[in-house]
Amino acid sequence: MSKAAFITGISGQDGSYLAEYLLSLNMEVHGMIRRNSTPENQSSRLKKIYNKIHSHYGDLLDQTSIEKLLTEIKPDEIYNLAAQSHVRISFDIPQFTAQTNAIGTLNILEAYKRICPSAKFYQASSSEMFGLTIEEDGFQRETTIMNPVSPYGISKVFAYNAVRHYRRAYNLHAVNGILFNHESARRGSNFVTNKVVKAACSIKLGLQDKLEIGNLDSYRDWGHSKDYVKAMYLINNHNIADDFVVSTMETHSVREMCNTVFSYLDLDYKDYVIQNDKYLRPEELPYLKGDSTKIRKTLGWKPEYTFEMLMHEMVDHWMLVLQGKESNL
Ligand code: NAP
Ligand code: GDD
Repeated sequence: MSKAAFITGISGQDGSYLAEYLLSLNMEVHGMIRRNSTPENQSSRLKKIYNKIHSHYGDLLDQTSIEKLLTEIKPDEIYNLAAQSHVRISFDIPQFTAQTNAIGTLNILEAYKRICPSAKFYQASSSEMFGLTIEEDGFQRETTIMNPVSPYGISKVFAYNAVRHYRRAYNLHAVNGILFNHESARRGSNFVTNKVVKAACSIKLGLQDKLEIGNLDSYRDWGHSKDYVKAMYLINNHNIADDFVVSTMETHSVREMCNTVFSYLDLDYKDYVIQNDKYLRPEELPYLKGDSTKIRKTLGWKPEYTFEMLMHEMVDHWMLVLQGKESNL
């Protein structure tokens, strides 16, 4: 009999790629979806696989819905990807962010402990938890002290520690993947990579003149979501319940990312990109570079996409979409 997976946040970027990957491993995939007044928005990233997955209404803040789903599905593997995942927006709605990301994780951990404690539980932890700390060699890794600088980062530190606590206290197979930024054509278009790519393509096609963004001098370690969902599966299926950093081990500034995208379209980003203070954050996380040696050595994971391959794939996608053509991403 095939194994059953339960994914919260299945309608998001990672949830959709993870569902595709688990289906390719012949798993039965169940996903929790929030009600939205525009039903198409619930499944827009799941178009390719909607008739192959089992979707269920629920919400991380609705304990009864989680308990009902875990009781019915009896999953072998749980992936808790649901979150208010936008760092800038977490400054505008800090309480909702903490409710969903911190208390929501506690809600599903409690249900998991009581209803299906033999399942494996994966938590979507984040490099944003490291905040201002950088090791002397310029990396952040599993042992780096967490010093978050946003309501989002703070909420994720709570969830990360809750998972570790449940693992120790109740002997559960509950694990954290500490993932650095990962992108794709399916990324929300208010995250910086997709915002820049979409605008650059619009400029190339004469649909837009300028691009206003915030801090050009922050650095991120950007990988591809498709590579990172494979790491989630490996981490959850390791024979020891443990926490792993997932990263490319490279960092690029937002400015370099703009240059890569505009250059690929034969444009000079300096002619079009304007800094607008409106997009700055009350407190910025200036630099991320992850050391993923542990997962590479222990689980044999490594990314297939380079930074350039990722950005070029996103550009190719938006050039098609903005010209009304089909993209298979
Ligand atoms: P995303 O595209 O924003 O997806 C988030 C998902 O969570 C969506 O399906 C969303 O549903 C759902 N959700 C939000 N609040 C919910 C609630 N109260 N109950 C149930 N579902 C809820 O994010 P992503 O990029 O795929 O990231 C997946 C996870 O990894 C998140 O936990 C994120 O914080 C974490 N993470 C992401 C990155 C990254 O670079 N992408 C890095 C580290 C960690 P709606 O569509 O209805 O809003
Ligand atoms: N969103 C956005 N919009 N970011 C901008 C802009 C802009 O117009 N201009 C500059 N930036 C800068 C931000 O200040 C930040 O330094 C960097 O671009 C990346 O911003 P985002 O793409 O919004 O991602 P993030 O790093 O804040 O958060 C993402 O990565 C985390 C992992 O480190 C999210 O996916 C989180 O959910 C994830 O945990």
